[in-house]
Amino acid sequence: MKILIIHGPNLNRLGKRDPDQYGHDTLEQVNEKINTYAKENQIEATCMQSNSEETIIDTIHSAETYDGLIINPAAFTHTSIALRDALASISIPKIEVHISNIHKREAFRHVSYTVAECTGQISGLGTYGYVLALNYLKHSGESRI
Ligand code: DQA
Repeated sequence: MKILIIHGPNLNRLGKRDPDQYGHDTLEQVNEKINTYAKENQIEATCMQSNSEETIIDTIHSAETYDGLIINPAAFTHTSIALRDALASISIPKIEVHISNIHKREAFRHVSYTVAECTGQISGLGTYGYVLALNYLKHSGESRI
């Protein structure tokens, strides 16, 4: 099973950026956590991060070679119809992950343009959310949930 993980803008600043919201792990450490869980579960995980909306859209367009997509669109969640349309154009399972609980924060973060084109959303469970999303993708084919 091959899963693509996309980290959106500013997530390369994890570890330095607002640790009260996002914790102390760097993006490298988060990817290590993802890869460790993936290997233990016979999943081939590919992680990428970009601050560019264009690069993320192009990456989504070519994601149908994977069995599933985990995406933290970061601030683009709240702004990008283009990203939503890109997600709508591919037909693999897609999970939206947010490290912080976006529904508990500023009102502008309560709106997600992207979630309607995803199977579901994990928000507020820290970086463990990525592992939970992998676990879901691994097992979701086994039965109708
Ligand atoms: C975030 C939440 C977004 O509102 C914010 O813009 C981010 C990170 C999260 O993971 O909690 O950059 O997606």
